[in-house]
Amino acid sequence: MKDFTYYTPTEVVFGRRSEERIARLVRRYGGTKVLLHYGGGSAERSGLLASIRSQLAAEGIGCVELGGVVPNPRLSKVREGVALCRAEGVDFLLAVGGGSVIDSAKAIAYGIPYDGDVWDFFAGQAQAEVCIPLGAVVTIPAAGSEMSNGCVITNEEGWQKRGYSSQLARCRFAVMNPERTFTLPPYQTACGVTDILMHTMERYFSPEVDMTLTDAIAEALMRTVIDAAPEVLARPDDYRHRAQIMWAGSLAHNDLTGCGNVGDWATHHLEHELSALFDVAHGAGLAAVWGSWARYVYRTNPARFARFAVNVLHVENDFTDPERTALAGIAAMERFYRSIGMPTSIPELIGRPATEAEIVEMARKCSLDGSSTEGSFRELDRADMEAVYRLANGGN
Ligand code: NZQ
Ligand code: ZN
Repeated sequence: MKDFTYYTPTEVVFGRRSEERIARLVRRYGGTKVLLHYGGGSAERSGLLASIRSQLAAEGIGCVELGGVVPNPRLSKVREGVALCRAEGVDFLLAVGGGSVIDSAKAIAYGIPYDGDVWDFFAGQAQAEVCIPLGAVVTIPAAGSEMSNGCVITNEEGWQKRGYSSQLARCRFAVMNPERTFTLPPYQTACGVTDILMHTMERYFSPEVDMTLTDAIAEALMRTVIDAAPEVLARPDDYRHRAQIMWAGSLAHNDLTGCGNVGDWATHHLEHELSALFDVAHGAGLAAVWGSWARYVYRTNPARFARFAVNVLHVENDFTDPERTALAGIAAMERFYRSIGMPTSIPELIGRPATEAEIVEMARKCSLDGSSTEGSFRELDRADMEAVYRLANGGN
């Protein structure tokens, strides 16, 4: 087990009627003038925004609004938010939505006190030293941004999707009412489930082997999500299973399942190029490449994949042949993805095969022009990345 620091400062307020505490939480964490930040309309339609507005007014907290955050949130919206918050003297950001809105809020929070352009952080040209405090009201369990230190923004210039991580923009609080997720379309529910599983798998497929407790937590989390997914797809208002998925979404990415291991994250970075180029949902992009990544790398440690197959997907263990068990597990995972409506190839994801030029371009960007590798379970260079994309594109 590797040495680690586990830092998870976010106050979680979970359950029915948890939203009634939002304004008091803002006040407690020092907010006197709030930016209410949201997406394309779901939070308005559900009445959530109306309730937050009246709560803030009743608590005497000033409020300006910026909606219209799109999935794969854009740098232009972040810059607009920074300018608005500076002009209005905003001292607290309240993100109402999913990973896209929360990440957009985090980027604005970095940008407000920074003299340069906020993209500097994502381009690796600056480190944030201060940040405006923020809180999240989560409406889709997926990205886990409410408890993560990450933030992913897309720069429309060159369609670069880049992450920036720092403990500074950890949400002060996360309000999570599973009832708010009843309105999620099945596709978004499934994308969220996939992302939650992938955040756990990225940490599980690690070169580190001595992490009994962390493995057990990860396996329980994945089994819970896999069992709950068909239930909520069949009955969107199934509180019990929605709640399991929602809590799993936060635990999958607050690094609980990363304590003592080394994450891989190659699938995530391969996916970020897909969603940058084709503007697809992050979860769907992950499902489209994971199986190809897995088949490309499993021989590095077939026993690990075999354990995953048996403990997570209930595949029968062929003790004489771990590779066979490993491959059966990969196939079972892909069957699960298909069963919840997720693609397991690039053509299924974007409606056509990617062109060779697109594959080369994605691998170029993912490897930073060939200067960096991805992955720790097995390190992938630019040629490996192209190979995984080709596999996912239906090649061999
Ligand atoms: O915009 P609205 O109308 O709200 O619709 C959203 C959006 O279209 C809809 N939605 C959300 N809650 C809803 C709802 N529809 C009905 N009822 C509700 N209760 O769902 C759609 C997707 O929302 P989005 O925020 O984009 O989803 P998600 O949480 O999956 O976030 C994806 C973004 O997070 C990044 C991804 O790359 C992507 O940009 N990630 C962020 C991470 C982090 N900060 O730690 C880690 C992740 O690996 C990921 O990369
Ligand atoms: Zn993710």
